[in-house]
Amino acid sequence: MAENVKKKVNKTKKSSSPKNNNSKSPKKKSSSSKKVTSKGTTKTKKKTGTNKNVSSKNKGKTTQTKTSSKTVKKKNTAKKSVPKKENINIETTIEEIKKEKNPLRMIIIILSALGIISTSSLAYFNQSKVEVNLKKENVLEINEKYALSSFVESVVNCEQINKNKKVSFDSLGENKITLSFKDKNKNNITKEAKVKVVDTNPPEIKFKDKITVTEGDKVDLLKGVIVTDNSKEKIEAKIDGKYNIKKAGTYKLKYVAKDSSGNSKEVDFTLVVEPKKVEIKPPKNEDKSWTTSKGYSAVTKNGITYINGVLVVNKTYSLPDSYNPGLNSTVKNKVDELFAAAKEAGFDSMSIGSGFRSYKTQKSLYNSYVKRDGQTKADTYSARPGHSEHQTGLAVDICHKGYSCITSAFDGTPPAIWLNDNAYKYGFIIRYPQGKSNETGYKYESWHLRYVGEDLATKLYNDGNWITLESYFGITSQYK
Ligand code: DAL
Ligand code: ZN
Repeated sequence: MAENVKKKVNKTKKSSSPKNNNSKSPKKKSSSSKKVTSKGTTKTKKKTGTNKNVSSKNKGKTTQTKTSSKTVKKKNTAKKSVPKKENINIETTIEEIKKEKNPLRMIIIILSALGIISTSSLAYFNQSKVEVNLKKENVLEINEKYALSSFVESVVNCEQINKNKKVSFDSLGENKITLSFKDKNKNNITKEAKVKVVDTNPPEIKFKDKITVTEGDKVDLLKGVIVTDNSKEKIEAKIDGKYNIKKAGTYKLKYVAKDSSGNSKEVDFTLVVEPKKVEIKPPKNEDKSWTTSKGYSAVTKNGITYINGVLVVNKTYSLPDSYNPGLNSTVKNKVDELFAAAKEAGFDSMSIGSGFRSYKTQKSLYNSYVKRDGQTKADTYSARPGHSEHQTGLAVDICHKGYSCITSAFDGTPPAIWLNDNAYKYGFIIRYPQGKSNETGYKYESWHLRYVGEDLATKLYNDGNWITLESYFGITSQYK
């Protein structure tokens, strides 16, 4: 008996709720109802819940319709005995109606709930149920174009408006996009898709692959560089590598650009720091007469300086740019004598590597060294124009076949040693002896001979410990 009561209650409960009946056709209604009853109240409640969910998602409408129909039928028999349960059903139905936006469907639900139309009508109606399923995750590249269709997973009974239209996003992070659809009745439906916008592309760098500047220039190496990115992110640009604008040389460097998403780009470029061009004006010595610190009489006349009758040219004393005598004829003869003696000694291939050099020739030579090594270094081995002994016509650079010519590699070679020990006999001195650069202003040149006459040359030879003209006369060799 107790079981019967329970069954009755369950039955009533089941039939009073439109969402509890899972039967698929009216024929099965009674057996289904039984089945539910025999399984008890708890299960029935659960099923009610399930159907609610389905209903809220617009799913399983067929089942629901049948249930509603059944509910109406049951109302006739069980309404009075279990009024409370019926209230729940009505509430549920009202809830559904509230949720339903489609007016036609709303009417059908009401009619179905009231049993005025059959469940199959609602089932038929459900066949035209509209569904829009958006993609769960949209991770897109900033400022790239995407068709509106790419945000949609699937649609049922509707169509996306402008699905081929392309859109792009210009701000990183979370973005939203509203998508429009229309159903068969031309009703508009809108959905909002969430979009995560990222930047995975590195910045682009437009630059010069070679930049040439002059030593000591104030230059901003990033000034001419154009860095662009596909986003509005902050871009850091810098130069990678070591360089010194104050030091002539060629530097291999890199531009590095990095956006705030961490994408970076590197490009190589070369920085050429050229030596400072020296503006050289022809030197001008005022005409004057004086006595040197060692008591020799000195005179500068027409810009040419003689000390004790010897023409002197060094960093202190210069020649006018117009002084252009060519190689002195006495020097020519003395060089021939020297070469003949050298030949006797076994050095049969001596020659003049460089003899007379005009102001102009010296200027271009000196500038080429400055360009190559910078002025400070050039000044240790090359005279500025107007300051070279080669412009006097009294100096020669001697070479010998098979030996390095006019370079330090000639120092200490057999022909260099022979010249060092014999040149004075022909009136020549080693003008820039070893270890005397603080006096002469130039490094050792084993090949550079200056004709001063045999008497002075012999004194300056000093048994092999050469005395410089500067030391001998008591004069300086410094640029002013
Ligand atoms: N090499 C010497 C110093 C000159 O240039 O005259
Ligand atoms: Zn020389």
